[in-house]
Amino acid sequence: MGFLSRKKRQSVVEEPHPIVEELQEMEEVMPEYEDTPAESPVADSEEYVEDYPAAGEEYFEPEPEPAPELAPAPVAEAAVVAEPAPVAEPAPVAEPVEVAVEEDEAEGDGRMKASDLLAPMRQDFAPVQEADEEAPLKTADVIAFANQKGGVAKTTTTLNLAVAFAESGYRVLCVDLDPQGNLTMSQGIDPDKVEKSLYDVLVNDMPISEIILEREIDIAVASIDLAGAEIAMSTKIGRERSLEKALKEVSADYDFVCIDTPPSLGLLTINALTAANKVIVPVQCEYLSMRGLVQLQNTLKMIQENLNPDVRIEGILPTMLDTRTVHAKEAVEILEENFGDLVFRSRIRKAIKFAEAPVKGASVLKYDSGSSAANYYRELAKEVLANGSA
Ligand SMILES: Nc1ncnc2c1ncn2[C@@H]1O[C@H](COP(=O)(O)OP(=O)(O)OP(=O)(O)O)[C@@H](O)[C@H]1O
Ligand SMILES: [Mg+2]
Repeated sequence: MGFLSRKKRQSVVEEPHPIVEELQEMEEVMPEYEDTPAESPVADSEEYVEDYPAAGEEYFEPEPEPAPELAPAPVAEAAVVAEPAPVAEPAPVAEPVEVAVEEDEAEGDGRMKASDLLAPMRQDFAPVQEADEEAPLKTADVIAFANQKGGVAKTTTTLNLAVAFAESGYRVLCVDLDPQGNLTMSQGIDPDKVEKSLYDVLVNDMPISEIILEREIDIAVASIDLAGAEIAMSTKIGRERSLEKALKEVSADYDFVCIDTPPSLGLLTINALTAANKVIVPVQCEYLSMRGLVQLQNTLKMIQENLNPDVRIEGILPTMLDTRTVHAKEAVEILEENFGDLVFRSRIRKAIKFAEAPVKGASVLKYDSGSSAANYYRELAKEVLANGSA
């Protein structure tokens, strides 16, 4: 085709010759796109050239190929079948290119493939990257149990909810961040006799794994000297993040880390809220108990803005509910009016078992597994899990 064009122009410019007319006629018969396959880089491939039709007319030959797929329709429908034919026309143009690329890859003839030029590194290393990205997802859900008001069932809730998670097959670590050591005592451990405790972890950067004891759940223990930790940490750089740092060592070993906090909003509680991604706020169903919630919310806001933007309130838990009194019912109503969906549906009613179990160094779920007291916390565990934890 190319030589025909050149000859034609030369002849027209120089002198007319009878053969020119003949050539011009030939050229008119040849379709213009006849050039396309010859100049296409794909045509460099031997396979492509072999498969590709040499003459212009033959270029249309693939057209009939799709026809048999449409053809099986009955003779009576032939007119309908004939109509889609023009739509199928472009298909044969694309087909030879795809075939040529596939054959190249199969041969492995050392030539560079289009896929090599696109992004060979991404393909080669994709599986390794996926494995690395998955790893951090396995870290524990860290829940802090906080309310600066004393005696609202922070410790009781930390232990019994943790044991309810463990009953369901989750790996749970409890952290006793309260110098009173009530959680430690609730598992039958005397805080006065503990040699290494969270004090050493927070103040002296001891690995937290060294102070974890195995009981109903694993527990990072408190000792009486934890009371001095806030002052000892006060000059430390990154003092608010000491617990968060320490938990990194073990967070892949657990599904839940449950942190019990003291009845204050001091540095220990700030450490807990900084390490946590969720906060459960136990509230005794009395009007006076609920007034402190605003102060707790302000502290949490300060932590979200400065230390831990991810922390949020998982739920407010009405505890020690005495359904016989009007006052308790009204207190729950006030709670729901002010905090809406943040209030758990689960209710922890008053029961003497909660006072008895710690004396035996056990959770209520172990002390009296079939009791309704134990079931209050099993229900709470279901609710927390249904909310998307672990
Ligand atoms: N549902 C309940 N019914 C009856 N008694 C309960 C209930 N929950 C907790 N208690 C009892 O109330 C007391 C205070 O509970 P707990 O120690 O859990 O509160 P706390 O918020 O951790 O207190 P603190 O602020 O001093 O750490 C304990 O004696 C506990 O046994
Ligand atoms: Mg407590």
